[in-house]
Amino acid sequence: MHWSMLIILLRHLRLFTNPVPFFVTALERADGFMEVGLPVVFITTVVFVVALAYLLYRRLAIGQVRYISLVGDYFPLFLLLGIGISGFWLRHLAKTDIASVKEMVLGLARFAPVVPETISPLFYGHLFLVCVLLAYLPFSKLTHMAGVFLSPTRNMANNNRTVRHVNPWDYPVKVHTYEEYEDELREKMKSAGIPVERQ
Ligand code: HEM
Repeated sequence: MHWSMLIILLRHLRLFTNPVPFFVTALERADGFMEVGLPVVFITTVVFVVALAYLLYRRLAIGQVRYISLVGDYFPLFLLLGIGISGFWLRHLAKTDIASVKEMVLGLARFAPVVPETISPLFYGHLFLVCVLLAYLPFSKLTHMAGVFLSPTRNMANNNRTVRHVNPWDYPVKVHTYEEYEDELREKMKSAGIPVERQ
């Protein structure tokens, strides 16, 4: 899902650039090498939608995963599925006029908006869902993507079998154990009917 999305985003650069960079054209050629359909179906389009459908299935079908799933877990899945399906629809069913889309997008970038009449209304649906995703991103669990830069496997010397890395700011923490807590509050807990470990 993640790799497909990255490649899809890079391929989308053809909508924002003129001339289209060579690597975008190369990616398109590699991605559509099976030459199925007209316009050709990209492998990443299919992998993206199928992978998202699987992630949703996994969340619903596995009891433990469903139990810990919240709205914040379902929402990004539905949002990305909506973006993927509307994108597929735009390319293969509605056959959107790409030249007009490019005219509109470049108009937005130059602060001189134009609204060509030949664009499928579905395109605005696709764009709206992408805007919702961008607005939602900083407040969602999707920010976990920044964690890749903090990952120990990328930041630490790979010698932790020979060298013991002790946290330099690891000061002795004052703790209050459960036993101490119970000693302190045993009588009150008993009178409130809360079970205690030692009488
Ligand atoms: C999170 C960002 C986005 C995702 C995941 C996404 C996903 C997709 C997918 C899966 C497709 C199907 C065809 C393909 O794989 O190329 C598609 C098509 C399309 N998308 Fe997006 N999209 C995004 C952002 C945008 C934006 C910002 C625009 C325009 C401003 C846009 C415009 C289009 C258009 C015009 C098509 C039809 C392409 C064609 O007919 O070849 N998309 N999108």
